[in-house]
Amino acid sequence: MMPKVAPSILAADFARLGDEVRRVSEAGADYIHIDVMDGVFVPNITLGPPVIKSLRGSSKLPFISHLMISHPERHVAAFAESGSDIIEVHIEADQDDLRGTLRAIREAGCKAGLAVNPPTPIERAFEYLDLVDLVLVMSVNPGFGGQSFMPEVLPKIALVKEELTKRGLEVPIEIDGGINGKTAAAASSAGADILAAGTYVFRSEDVVGAIRALRNS
Ligand code: DX5
Ligand code: ZN
Repeated sequence: MMPKVAPSILAADFARLGDEVRRVSEAGADYIHIDVMDGVFVPNITLGPPVIKSLRGSSKLPFISHLMISHPERHVAAFAESGSDIIEVHIEADQDDLRGTLRAIREAGCKAGLAVNPPTPIERAFEYLDLVDLVLVMSVNPGFGGQSFMPEVLPKIALVKEELTKRGLEVPIEIDGGINGKTAAAASSAGADILAAGTYVFRSEDVVGAIRALRNS
């Protein structure tokens, strides 16, 4: 199976975000990956619901909002209303009750994604799989674009897939961080269904070629 491609707009030109989203949509992307950082869960700050809402007119592709924020449960409604199709929350984030957050995402009409940082054992995600529509395996420590891929996270993909199969669940696995023309092959042969990539796609001279290279990896 060829992986789907989700360009991360973290590496886009923020002064021209709408054009950048249109550019990768026309170049063959499958999703738009939007990195939301709050300066608390991660050291960096990026953007929030008003910006996502203003981008909605630039693409018909599903928007994945990757929330690297504390207390995501307080913002589920705002991200759903902004036009997010998939909302990913971190298992490591401070929140009242992760099961409640995941349920609230689905009740808001979105798909619920669960993100797992490199140091976190994937087994910690198993008890939530019944409430999850996507699993995000982080292949860098979140907070910044342009970091190096951590191949040691790859075995997590097979482990979670095995558990999903055992439970009769069909849930795609996304991988995020340091994905490029070289590392994508390792990620897709490990079983990743969706490749998020920022720097590699947006800083490429040939965006169509970069997306095609990821898909054919
Ligand atoms: C990391 C973000 C990633 C990252 C991807 O905190 O969640 O989405 O920006 O960027 P690259 O592809 O440059 O590693
Ligand atoms: Zn991300």
